[in-house]
Amino acid sequence: MSLLKVDNIVKSYGNHKVLKGITFEINEPNILALVGPNGSGKTTLLNVMTNLLKADSGTVELLGMKNSDPNVFKKVAYLKDNTVLYPYLSGYDHLKYIQSMQKLPKERIDEVVNQIGISEYVRNKTSTYSLGMKQHLLIAMSIMNHPEVLLLDEPLTGLDPTSVMDVRLLLNTLSKKGVTILLSSHSLSEIDFITSNILFLKDGEVIEEDISEYQKTRYQLKVATNDLERVIPLTNTHKHLLMEENYLIYTSSEPNLQWLINTLQEHNIVVEDMSKRVVGAQERYEAIFKEIEV
Ligand SMILES: Nc1ncnc2c1ncn2[C@@H]1O[C@H](COP(=O)(O)OP(=O)(O)OP(=O)(O)O)[C@@H](O)[C@H]1O
Ligand SMILES: [Mg+2]
Repeated sequence: MSLLKVDNIVKSYGNHKVLKGITFEINEPNILALVGPNGSGKTTLLNVMTNLLKADSGTVELLGMKNSDPNVFKKVAYLKDNTVLYPYLSGYDHLKYIQSMQKLPKERIDEVVNQIGISEYVRNKTSTYSLGMKQHLLIAMSIMNHPEVLLLDEPLTGLDPTSVMDVRLLLNTLSKKGVTILLSSHSLSEIDFITSNILFLKDGEVIEEDISEYQKTRYQLKVATNDLERVIPLTNTHKHLLMEENYLIYTSSEPNLQWLINTLQEHNIVVEDMSKRVVGAQERYEAIFKEIEV
């Protein structure tokens, strides 16, 4: 059974076509990040997926059910980007409301409070909460009902580094328990810790990537300025090599460092510094969204 199936979703606001035929599918429990610049349609897509917004055309199935089926939301939770909390109620009141609405056991409240680590302030009015405290409460509210699918619109925004780590751990724990998570985020370095499955939204469409592209390792070598002119011909003849300012970039899925060292020695090229990293969300984003400036 497909867990999430989005088929050719089109959505416009007036003349502005925001989603131009979005199609993707998740068949196994996984974490998927939704990435794109401001205004690229992430929130619109999540709202359409959860049927808060009607698409112009296309269909969405969640856990094998149409998104218009009310039973969907017994198993799917959505944390909206601007969910409003009641300022005069405590966090506990919010959780209690969900527990009684959804007829969950009373113990579930304490379970979630402990899991998310909000016991210190859960009895205080939410008007006294910081942004991060609110975000913790919202996540707690969204997992009350043991969702199988969790849709999160920018769950890391406004969180301090410790809270980001907490949320990251929580998402990984939930994912290991079989929860499918789709989260939008602008925090590309954080996404690298959470998942390598990324859905890039560009100009109303999902960008299909060559998966082998991001299983590569990237070496960045700082080349002595005097040697630069000897490096440039190498980048024309070797497809794994390119120049970025003073840096020679070597990217490969099966890097052969001995070959690289020999080649540089043969051409009398001095390397002043070198760093290594796995190709991540930042590089993938740059490759997709880089505009050629005129
Ligand atoms: N209610 C609305 N009426 C008209 N236009 C809208 C409405 N909501 C969103 N839009 C437009 O649709 C586009 C996509 O907006 P959306 O909020 O989905 O983007 P986003 O990717 O979530 O952006 P952000 O990263 O800033 O959260 C934007 O151009 C926005 O101006
Ligand atoms: Mg948004």
